Amino acid sequence: MPAKIKKAAKSRAAKPGSNAAGGSSYHTGSALSVTHFTLDDVNSILALASKLEAMPIQRRAQLLSKRRVALLFYESSTRTRTSFELAAKSLGADTVLVSALSSSIEKGESLKDTGITLRALGAECIILRHPNSGAPYLLAQTTGLPILNAGDGTHEHPSQALLDLRTILARLHKSARTVTDRTLQGTTVTIVGDILHSRVARSNALLLPRLGAKVLFCGPQALLPADAAEIGPGVEIERNLERALQRSNVVMMLRIQRERLAGMQLDLDEYIARYQLDAARLAAHAPKAVVLHPGPMIRGLEITSEVADGPNSAVAEQVEHGTAIRMALLFRALHPIASKSRKQRKK
Ligand code: NCD
Repeated sequence: MPAKIKKAAKSRAAKPGSNAAGGSSYHTGSALSVTHFTLDDVNSILALASKLEAMPIQRRAQLLSKRRVALLFYESSTRTRTSFELAAKSLGADTVLVSALSSSIEKGESLKDTGITLRALGAECIILRHPNSGAPYLLAQTTGLPILNAGDGTHEHPSQALLDLRTILARLHKSARTVTDRTLQGTTVTIVGDILHSRVARSNALLLPRLGAKVLFCGPQALLPADAAEIGPGVEIERNLERALQRSNVVMMLRIQRERLAGMQLDLDEYIARYQLDAARLAAHAPKAVVLHPGPMIRGLEITSEVADGPNSAVAEQVEHGTAIRMALLFRALHPIASKSRKQRKK
């Protein structure tokens, strides 16, 4: 990176700036909600992901050499945590994992104090997963550091929506160099299952329609309240899975989040009969649809193994795109100016 850009990036990164939406003082390198990203931001993240992915490994490992990244996880996670950690390491950063079960969090320390402690220890960026919606905003405000939201309660999971977008583009719109508000026009993405508790559904429903996609939510009343479609334009409810599949180019299956059901009675046999994606259903109603799942997958419940491992499934590709997207988010967090396109910088 040219020294001039590096210097500018450093001075800007030191003081909290404001994100595209909301005007609040969160560090500009934060990724708290997809609603904070302009389409220019989305384009620069996608471009950066491709650039970093294509870069020789040795060169890539210099980019965040010795920068300190903390992963603060108050909930269990396999792919998101590993993906962020490997992304940070492949850029050369030093990472430290703080998880609820092996830290002072267990002793009742507040999120605010944990954040301040991590900053005092030299953390320059914090990746946070937390069961409370909005927790990353609090951490961003109290620390002034770039915060990457790795899932907050039932609110958002921005890096997941970006990696889903990258997967959809790679499968269905390979030639799209940059995205516009029309890139996904004519593309219908059906999200099936526990919409009520899903931060993945929420982030996707807030992002994909801005690129022209139609999002169909599909699930029973208990997991998909009628007002869910009010989340924003381009979102509809279709409770019948067969009818939804017939309109779908992409179908994203969600796990039933047992840990969030809190006493809710759900007849799993009935759920499986109506909403499971099995090979016969897929072949009959959406033989060409791309199948996504953010994981963890419960095979035999929302999806069968045949579909999860079948030719329509892009589940493994999602994981690969996840690493590229998270490298881009980390680079952007620690070099907020250098990672912007020249056009954006001129503005
Ligand atoms: C999801 C999450 O934690 O929000 N998984 C993920 O991060 N890829 C979905 C889930 O837990 O079901």
